Amino acid sequence: MPVIAVIGAQWGDEGKGKVVDLLAQKARVVVRFSGGDNAGHTVVNPYGEFRLHLIPSGIFSSQVVCIIGNGVVINPAVLIDEIDQLNQRGVDTSRLFISDRANLVMPYHILLDGLEEESRAGKALGTTRRGIGPAFADKVARLGIRTGDLLDKEVLMERLRLILDGKNIILTKIYGVSPLSLDEVYSQYCQYGERLAPYIRETTIMLEEALNREELVLLEGAQGALLDPDFGTYPYTTSSSPLVGGGCVGAGLGPTRISRILGVFKAYCTRVGSGPMPTELKDETGDLIRERAHEYGTTTGRPRRCGWFDAVAARFSTRINGFTGAVITRLDILDALPRLKVCVGYELDGKTINYFPSSVAALDKCQPIYEELPGWQAPTNHIRDYEQLPVEARQYIARLEELTSCPVNLICVGPEREQTIHKMPIL
Ligand code: IMP
Repeated sequence: MPVIAVIGAQWGDEGKGKVVDLLAQKARVVVRFSGGDNAGHTVVNPYGEFRLHLIPSGIFSSQVVCIIGNGVVINPAVLIDEIDQLNQRGVDTSRLFISDRANLVMPYHILLDGLEEESRAGKALGTTRRGIGPAFADKVARLGIRTGDLLDKEVLMERLRLILDGKNIILTKIYGVSPLSLDEVYSQYCQYGERLAPYIRETTIMLEEALNREELVLLEGAQGALLDPDFGTYPYTTSSSPLVGGGCVGAGLGPTRISRILGVFKAYCTRVGSGPMPTELKDETGDLIRERAHEYGTTTGRPRRCGWFDAVAARFSTRINGFTGAVITRLDILDALPRLKVCVGYELDGKTINYFPSSVAALDKCQPIYEELPGWQAPTNHIRDYEQLPVEARQYIARLEELTSCPVNLICVGPEREQTIHKMPIL
């Protein structure tokens, strides 16, 4: 059995949680491979409605082993709270495992995320302030503390003493705020360690064993390709790779193991936080989409910026991920609109371009070139069969397939598992 990677193809919030929850019904392992609790995966299923930040969305399927991979940064307080909340609502978390190589989000990361954002004044990145950027920065600076370190109190103290001294200098001398107490942070993280110890494992072996047994494995992406630190709208990006390449590194498996790469696209675009978004609608159509779809951040509650589907960005995302298929989510949101627009190119300095520029200065100047399509103005959320969709909706999907050169496997017409049209088999 294969590995299917489920990858955010836009700026995150595409609905990966629903897709993973749906596909997990047939899977044996689901691995989250990047990001941290900046992610907010909304899942609606027979257990209720959930907003997961760290735990893979496969947790609701009783045969699934869920792994938080080495590529995720973990805030232990958030994870423990998430485990407790799931348990209180009758969801079993005994099949959850955490890589012993995952880095931890520490209290100074959260403090510094906020302080750095404030120091950027008008140029703030609009981060989720969950400490994600500082935690990944420390990981590559080799100043991280990992879940495995929680299992040995001496190692934890040694690492913390070394690192916290430097962080306290930054906190006090640069930002003029109070230092953190070594004893307090240490005892807090010792408690977290005791609580999380049963979950912490060498997870790559578990993954290899599942693959050798030919079990279906899902890689669950977080954020989206246009927030990738290399290919996204840098510096308005996140700090770990949401691409399928990040999936190999962040889960601990080789690229040859991955047989399908699903790009998850919303039927329109949204973005939360700062940075360029060429098709953003700052008018009543944008407001209508936001209110109809309740486009507010799952993690921060911020209103999401809404706009038309950007096929230039979508082609770019398809190229850098090698999508074998696409999932179009929230098609039903467009039911109300009489006309739809799709961005098929950009005008930059009087020239037409069909690629996604690397610089935000260029992207800021890009004017979208739109193609108009008729809307269908009929409800679609009860439809399960592709042929039953209004002809205009099928035209819209067909045009997206053409523009992105990516066949559509699934179409979502509502948050529930059943509100899905299986257009083409994934495997
Ligand atoms: P950070 O990842 O918290 O550092 O935030 C950096 C940028 O990524 C900001 O624009 C955030 O709004 C955005 N971002 C981070 N996580 C998500 C997500 O799960 N969905 C959408 N945007 C996100």
